[in-house]
Amino acid sequence: MKVTRATFNDVMVPNYNPAKMIPVKGEGSRVWDQEGKEYVDFAGGIAVNCLGHCHPAMVNALTEQGNKLWHLSNVFTNEPAIRLAKKLTDATFAERVYFANSGAEANEAALKLARRWALDKFGAEKDQIIAFTKGFHGRTFFTVTVGGQPAYSDGFGPKPGAIEHVDYNDLAALEAQMSERTCAVMMEPLQGEGGVISPDADFVKGVRELCDKYNALLIFDEVQTGFGRTGSLYAYQQLGVTPDILATAKALGGGFPIGAMLTTAAIAEHLKPGTHGSTYGGNPLACAVAEAVFDVVNTDEVLQGVKAREELFKTKLAEINERHGIFKDIRGQGLLIGAELSEAYEGKARDFLNAAADEGVMVLVAGLSVVRFTPSLIIPEEDVLEGLARFEKAVAKLVG
Ligand SMILES: Cc1ncc(COP(=O)(O)O)c(C=O)c1O
Repeated sequence: MKVTRATFNDVMVPNYNPAKMIPVKGEGSRVWDQEGKEYVDFAGGIAVNCLGHCHPAMVNALTEQGNKLWHLSNVFTNEPAIRLAKKLTDATFAERVYFANSGAEANEAALKLARRWALDKFGAEKDQIIAFTKGFHGRTFFTVTVGGQPAYSDGFGPKPGAIEHVDYNDLAALEAQMSERTCAVMMEPLQGEGGVISPDADFVKGVRELCDKYNALLIFDEVQTGFGRTGSLYAYQQLGVTPDILATAKALGGGFPIGAMLTTAAIAEHLKPGTHGSTYGGNPLACAVAEAVFDVVNTDEVLQGVKAREELFKTKLAEINERHGIFKDIRGQGLLIGAELSEAYEGKARDFLNAAADEGVMVLVAGLSVVRFTPSLIIPEEDVLEGLARFEKAVAKLVG
């Protein structure tokens, strides 16, 4: 059966508006569409394809596990899930892991755990969750309400309660909101969807201190920043601050759907048998792939390579900017890079994305005025150079 982009409109719920072309094949950081046109992939499935497309370690893990055991549910455990949990706990602050299927689900588990922990230990009054404007935590009704973008959470009826927002990097505003009623503070250690916004080092330390002062849990949403994206396995490892709960997904499976919530043994205890769960969470195929991804990503070679690629990207983007004057800021950490458009092009990030696709390079946006790059963590230098050359062609056409 021949399907086209037009078929999409006939059969799909219209909540997405995907590109005109349909990709059919990927290898490393290159992708081909139905017409055979080739693209350099700087989008990486929105910070997911950390090893590019069809990396042999992932293909091998998937086919090997696919010939052994696909699914059991959590009525039975499985070896890949336990092995992956062991590796994640060995490599982080965490002592316990809960597996989910997406970032939103990992965050949902984190929020439910925080509420249950507070209820058990302090009583029903301690229910306040504080998060940050422009934050993004997923699309379940709890996570989208905790996210700081009303455009995403409005229009679905009554929201979950006791959720407040303050501005990111505004410690005084956070302090003014916090009290013994605060159950948890949830934050991204670098806001991705909100525009690639880094936290001030003092801000993150201050958030930790306030959480300690008021017996509140600090939840780091590392769905986008995690698994090597910023040059360490998790971003918290470069911030000198340890969260109580951490959510990870996206790059964790390198393209196979999986999420996880990591925490300490003392906090984990509050999700007793029957309190939370998921049919697919900890699925053996997903965990086998994630274990293979972990073994590649959690190495000095890959993590230091992220830093080297960050340099290359930022240098080349600055050169493009010198020639065309389109950006007012080039920022981000590791391979989560945002280039904010200057006033003259404000609100036009999507035009740059479309023009780039026409020239054969896939990029992302973060909000209306930031062009975002989240390529594979192991993208070859020549693909970075070729992709940015194509991007510059698109820029030249667009700005004339
Ligand atoms: C920081 C952050 N948290 C949560 C999510 C939601 O993840 P998912 O789409 O896998 O539910 C995203 C997705 O963009 C994200 O960037």
